[in-house]
Amino acid sequence: MEELKEQSKAEFAFLSSYYDSSLVSWFFKPFYKRIAEEVQRLPRRRILGIGCDTATLEILLTRSFPDSMIIGLDLSRSMLEQARKKSAGLTNISFIEGDAENLPFPSESFEVVRCSHSFHHYPNQKKALSEMHRVLAPKGTLLLADGLKDNFLGRCWFFLVERIFEPGVLHFSSRALHEKMAATGLSNISVKKLMFAYGIIRAHKI
Ligand SMILES: C[S@@+](CC[C@H](N)C(=O)[O-])C[C@H]1O[C@@H](n2cnc3c(N)ncnc32)[C@H](O)[C@@H]1O
Repeated sequence: MEELKEQSKAEFAFLSSYYDSSLVSWFFKPFYKRIAEEVQRLPRRRILGIGCDTATLEILLTRSFPDSMIIGLDLSRSMLEQARKKSAGLTNISFIEGDAENLPFPSESFEVVRCSHSFHHYPNQKKALSEMHRVLAPKGTLLLADGLKDNFLGRCWFFLVERIFEPGVLHFSSRALHEKMAATGLSNISVKKLMFAYGIIRAHKI
């Protein structure tokens, strides 16, 4: 399990200096817009971004919601160095190096937790979901965006991703994710499909 985390650290340390100008970052832009629209509709005094990388979305949220406090957490120190440079001068944002499977926050700390395109890197996804549930305040919302093995194209694409492009990462169908979320106590779970095999899953803490 720790092996996959070391692999993530090495992968993202390598990518960090040119991540924002990469195709991958361009691909994420529509997700940022959709997540920001979702956050707009929610109570959002404190927002946590898990796997925030260089914090493009966290900075967008910081500017859109100046009365919210935004915290970005990532396993990669190099990604966070870029995030800190990009957000210099902004006062309602801060960053912390940490692991999604062991969040360094007291329970019920955030109204919104968002995690996009990072969940498939976690070897113990059950633990990560239970940590997300723990740090959400009552009636808080989790927004989780990732690749979904819901159709033929998605199953073929993530077969290649898991075996060739990012060996060891774990993608699921939205049904399987729904079950994992419900098992941690999250409820009112819904999926918005995006692009050919991706989606944003929204879930709530009672
Ligand atoms: C592809 S990038 C995520 C893209 C971006 N967060 C977004 O907003 O769509 C994946 C990020 O997850 C981070 N990551 C991987 N494993 C992690 C873990 N166990 N805990 C926290 N962050 C992790 C990586 O360091 C990387 O910055």
